[in-house]
Amino acid sequence: MFSSFAPKSVPEISAVSLNTENIAAALAVADRCFPNPQDQSFLRGHWARVLAGNATYFCPDDEAQLTLLDHFVYTQGGEVIAFGGLYRHDAQPDREWLNWFGVDPGYRGHGHGYTIIEHLAGVALRRGSSILVGYTEECEENAGTKRFYVSLQFKPTDLYLFRGEEVRLYERKLKGDT
Ligand SMILES: CC(C)(COP(=O)(O)OP(=O)(O)OC[C@H]1O[C@@H](n2cnc3c(N)ncnc32)[C@H](O)[C@@H]1OP(=O)(O)O)[C@@H](O)C(=O)NCCC(=O)NCCS
Repeated sequence: MFSSFAPKSVPEISAVSLNTENIAAALAVADRCFPNPQDQSFLRGHWARVLAGNATYFCPDDEAQLTLLDHFVYTQGGEVIAFGGLYRHDAQPDREWLNWFGVDPGYRGHGHGYTIIEHLAGVALRRGSSILVGYTEECEENAGTKRFYVSLQFKPTDLYLFRGEEVRLYERKLKGDT
Protein backbone atom coordinates (compact mmCIF):
# COMPACT_ATOMS: atom_id res chain seq x y z
CA MET A 1 0.00 0.00 0.00
CA PHE A 2 1.20 3.54 -0.59
CA SER A 3 -1.55 5.78 0.80
CA SER A 4 1.13 8.10 2.23
CA PHE A 5 1.57 9.59 -1.26
CA ALA A 6 -2.05 10.64 -1.43
CA PRO A 7 -3.28 13.89 0.12
CA LYS A 8 -6.92 12.89 -0.42
CA SER A 9 -8.92 9.75 0.05
CA VAL A 10 -8.20 7.26 -2.74
CA PRO A 11 -8.85 3.53 -3.04
CA GLU A 12 -6.11 1.31 -1.68
CA ILE A 13 -4.26 -0.74 -4.25
CA SER A 14 -1.01 -2.69 -4.07
CA ALA A 15 2.02 -2.47 -6.36
CA VAL A 16 3.81 -5.63 -7.52
CA SER A 17 6.71 -5.73 -9.98
CA LEU A 18 5.79 -7.02 -13.42
CA ASN A 19 6.77 -10.69 -13.49
CA THR A 20 6.19 -13.94 -15.37
CA GLU A 21 3.22 -14.79 -13.13
CA ASN A 22 1.26 -11.55 -13.50
CA ILE A 23 2.12 -10.58 -17.08
CA ALA A 24 -0.84 -12.42 -18.66
CA ALA A 25 -3.36 -10.61 -16.47
CA ALA A 26 -1.49 -7.34 -16.98
CA LEU A 27 -1.56 -7.78 -20.77
CA ALA A 28 -5.31 -8.38 -20.70
CA VAL A 29 -5.76 -5.03 -18.88
CA ALA A 30 -3.23 -3.31 -21.17
CA ASP A 31 -5.05 -4.52 -24.29
CA ARG A 32 -8.30 -3.03 -22.98
CA CYS A 33 -6.49 0.26 -22.27
CA PHE A 34 -4.72 0.34 -25.65
CA PRO A 35 -6.91 -1.29 -28.32
CA ASN A 36 -4.63 -0.17 -31.19
CA PRO A 37 -2.61 -3.26 -32.34
CA GLN A 38 0.49 -1.13 -33.00
CA ASP A 39 0.39 0.14 -29.39
CA GLN A 40 -0.11 -3.41 -28.11
CA SER A 41 2.88 -4.64 -30.07
CA PHE A 42 5.08 -1.80 -28.82
CA LEU A 43 4.04 -2.40 -25.20
CA ARG A 44 4.72 -6.14 -25.52
CA GLY A 45 8.21 -5.37 -26.81
CA HIS A 46 8.95 -3.18 -23.79
CA TRP A 47 7.59 -5.68 -21.29
CA ALA A 48 9.50 -8.57 -22.90
CA ARG A 49 12.70 -6.57 -22.43
CA VAL A 50 11.77 -5.84 -18.80
CA LEU A 51 11.24 -9.54 -18.04
CA ALA A 52 14.40 -10.54 -19.91
CA GLY A 53 16.43 -8.01 -17.91
CA ASN A 54 17.48 -6.51 -21.25
CA ALA A 55 16.86 -2.98 -20.06
CA THR A 56 19.20 -0.75 -22.06
CA TYR A 57 18.82 -0.49 -25.82
CA PHE A 58 18.58 1.89 -28.75
CA CYS A 59 14.88 2.55 -29.34
CA PRO A 60 14.10 3.49 -32.96
CA ASP A 61 10.73 5.01 -31.96
CA ASP A 62 12.50 7.60 -29.80
CA GLU A 63 15.76 7.53 -31.77
CA ALA A 64 17.54 7.39 -28.41
CA GLN A 65 19.35 5.07 -26.04
CA LEU A 66 16.85 4.15 -23.31
CA THR A 67 17.00 2.26 -20.03
CA LEU A 68 13.82 0.61 -18.81
CA LEU A 69 13.42 1.00 -15.04
CA ASP A 70 10.70 -0.30 -12.69
CA HIS A 71 7.48 -1.69 -14.13
CA PHE A 72 4.52 -2.44 -11.87
CA VAL A 73 1.14 -4.02 -11.96
CA TYR A 74 -1.39 -2.70 -9.47
CA THR A 75 -3.84 -5.01 -7.79
CA GLN A 76 -7.01 -4.67 -5.77
CA GLY A 77 -8.29 -7.72 -3.96
CA GLY A 78 -5.72 -9.81 -5.86
CA GLU A 79 -6.99 -8.66 -9.26
CA VAL A 80 -4.81 -6.67 -11.68
CA ILE A 81 -6.57 -3.37 -12.35
CA ALA A 82 -3.75 -1.13 -13.59
CA PHE A 83 -0.12 -1.00 -14.68
CA GLY A 84 2.65 1.53 -15.17
CA GLY A 85 6.38 1.85 -15.59
CA LEU A 86 9.36 4.15 -15.76
CA TYR A 87 12.24 4.55 -18.17
CA ARG A 88 15.10 6.91 -18.76
CA HIS A 89 16.77 8.49 -21.74
CA ASP A 90 20.41 7.74 -21.00
CA ALA A 91 21.35 11.25 -22.18
CA GLN A 92 19.03 12.80 -19.51
CA PRO A 93 19.95 11.08 -16.23
CA ASP A 94 17.91 13.39 -13.92
CA ARG A 95 14.58 12.67 -15.66
CA GLU A 96 12.35 9.64 -15.58
CA TRP A 97 9.70 9.07 -18.22
CA LEU A 98 6.37 7.37 -17.66
CA ASN A 99 6.21 4.26 -19.72
CA TRP A 100 2.84 2.80 -20.73
CA PHE A 101 0.37 3.20 -17.90
CA GLY A 102 -3.34 2.59 -17.68
CA VAL A 103 -6.31 1.74 -15.50
CA ASP A 104 -8.74 -0.97 -16.60
CA PRO A 105 -11.77 0.84 -18.11
CA GLY A 106 -14.18 -0.54 -15.50
CA TYR A 107 -12.10 0.95 -12.67
CA ARG A 108 -11.56 4.48 -13.98
CA GLY A 109 -12.74 7.67 -12.34
CA HIS A 110 -12.04 6.49 -8.78
CA GLY A 111 -8.55 7.91 -8.24
CA HIS A 112 -6.54 4.84 -9.31
CA GLY A 113 -4.76 6.76 -12.07
CA TYR A 114 -3.83 9.41 -9.53
CA THR A 115 -2.60 6.76 -7.10
CA ILE A 116 -0.37 4.95 -9.59
CA ILE A 117 1.24 8.17 -10.85
CA GLU A 118 1.92 9.27 -7.25
CA HIS A 119 3.47 5.87 -6.62
CA LEU A 120 5.69 6.10 -9.71
CA ALA A 121 6.66 9.69 -8.80
CA GLY A 122 7.71 8.47 -5.35
CA VAL A 123 9.83 5.69 -6.86
CA ALA A 124 11.54 8.17 -9.23
CA LEU A 125 12.13 10.69 -6.42
CA ARG A 126 13.66 8.10 -4.12
CA ARG A 127 16.03 7.19 -6.95
CA GLY A 128 17.14 10.85 -6.97
CA SER A 129 15.43 11.96 -10.18
CA SER A 130 14.28 15.60 -10.51
CA ILE A 131 11.60 15.49 -13.19
CA LEU A 132 8.87 13.07 -14.21
CA VAL A 133 7.89 13.21 -17.89
CA GLY A 134 4.76 12.00 -19.65
CA TYR A 135 3.49 12.62 -23.14
CA THR A 136 0.44 12.32 -25.31
CA GLU A 137 -0.58 13.08 -28.87
CA GLU A 138 -2.41 16.37 -29.18
CA CYS A 139 -5.50 14.88 -30.82
CA GLU A 140 -9.08 15.26 -29.56
CA GLU A 141 -9.13 11.56 -28.67
CA ASN A 142 -6.42 12.20 -26.04
CA ALA A 143 -8.00 15.30 -24.47
CA GLY A 144 -8.80 13.26 -21.34
CA THR A 145 -5.18 12.15 -20.92
CA LYS A 146 -4.05 15.78 -21.26
CA ARG A 147 -6.51 16.87 -18.53
CA PHE A 148 -5.34 13.94 -16.43
CA TYR A 149 -1.70 15.13 -16.60
CA VAL A 150 -2.67 18.73 -15.80
CA SER A 151 -4.79 17.69 -12.82
CA LEU A 152 -1.72 15.83 -11.47
CA GLN A 153 0.48 18.96 -11.61
CA PHE A 154 2.22 18.20 -14.89
CA LYS A 155 2.94 21.21 -17.09
CA PRO A 156 2.89 21.02 -20.89
CA THR A 157 6.35 21.74 -22.32
CA ASP A 158 8.04 20.88 -25.62
CA LEU A 159 6.88 18.92 -28.62
CA TYR A 160 8.73 15.62 -28.98
CA LEU A 161 9.16 13.36 -31.98
CA PHE A 162 7.90 9.85 -31.25
CA ARG A 163 7.60 7.31 -34.08
CA GLY A 164 8.00 10.28 -36.43
CA GLU A 165 4.92 12.04 -34.97
CA GLU A 166 4.92 15.12 -32.75
CA VAL A 167 3.60 14.52 -29.23
CA ARG A 168 3.31 17.00 -26.36
CA LEU A 169 5.55 16.47 -23.34
CA TYR A 170 4.16 17.00 -19.82
CA GLU A 171 6.66 17.52 -17.03
CA ARG A 172 6.31 17.50 -13.27
CA LYS A 173 9.07 18.66 -10.92
CA LEU A 174 9.87 16.08 -8.28
CA LYS A 175 12.33 18.32 -6.42
CA GLY A 176 14.28 21.57 -6.67
CA ASP A 177 14.14 24.20 -9.40
CA THR A 178 15.87 22.32 -12.20
C1 LIG B 1 -5.62 8.29 -17.98
C2 LIG B 1 -6.11 7.20 -17.00
C3 LIG B 1 -4.89 6.42 -16.47
C4 LIG B 1 -6.83 7.88 -15.82
O1 LIG B 1 -7.18 6.88 -14.86
P1 LIG B 1 -8.32 7.16 -13.76
O2 LIG B 1 -8.20 6.10 -12.73
O3 LIG B 1 -9.62 7.30 -14.42
O4 LIG B 1 -7.87 8.58 -13.19
P2 LIG B 1 -8.29 9.22 -11.78
O5 LIG B 1 -9.64 8.74 -11.39
O6 LIG B 1 -7.20 9.00 -10.80
O7 LIG B 1 -8.33 10.77 -12.12
C5 LIG B 1 -7.29 11.64 -11.71
C6 LIG B 1 -7.61 13.02 -12.18
O8 LIG B 1 -7.56 13.08 -13.62
C7 LIG B 1 -8.82 13.48 -14.12
N1 LIG B 1 -9.13 12.67 -15.28
C8 LIG B 1 -8.87 11.36 -15.43
N2 LIG B 1 -9.32 10.93 -16.63
C9 LIG B 1 -9.87 12.01 -17.22
C10 LIG B 1 -10.53 12.22 -18.45
N3 LIG B 1 -10.70 11.22 -19.35
N4 LIG B 1 -10.97 13.45 -18.74
C11 LIG B 1 -10.81 14.45 -17.85
N5 LIG B 1 -10.21 14.33 -16.67
C12 LIG B 1 -9.76 13.11 -16.36
C13 LIG B 1 -9.81 13.22 -13.01
O9 LIG B 1 -10.93 14.08 -13.11
C14 LIG B 1 -9.00 13.49 -11.79
O10 LIG B 1 -8.89 14.89 -11.55
P3 LIG B 1 -9.37 15.53 -10.16
O11 LIG B 1 -8.49 14.89 -9.10
O12 LIG B 1 -9.09 16.98 -10.36
O13 LIG B 1 -10.80 15.16 -10.05
C15 LIG B 1 -7.13 6.23 -17.67
O14 LIG B 1 -8.16 7.00 -18.27
C16 LIG B 1 -6.51 5.32 -18.73
O15 LIG B 1 -6.03 4.24 -18.41
N6 LIG B 1 -6.58 5.74 -20.01
C17 LIG B 1 -6.10 4.90 -21.14
C18 LIG B 1 -4.61 4.72 -21.15
C19 LIG B 1 -3.85 6.03 -21.26
O16 LIG B 1 -4.29 6.96 -21.94
N7 LIG B 1 -2.69 6.10 -20.58
C20 LIG B 1 -1.87 7.32 -20.59
C21 LIG B 1 -0.84 7.37 -21.67
S1 LIG B 1 0.36 6.05 -21.60
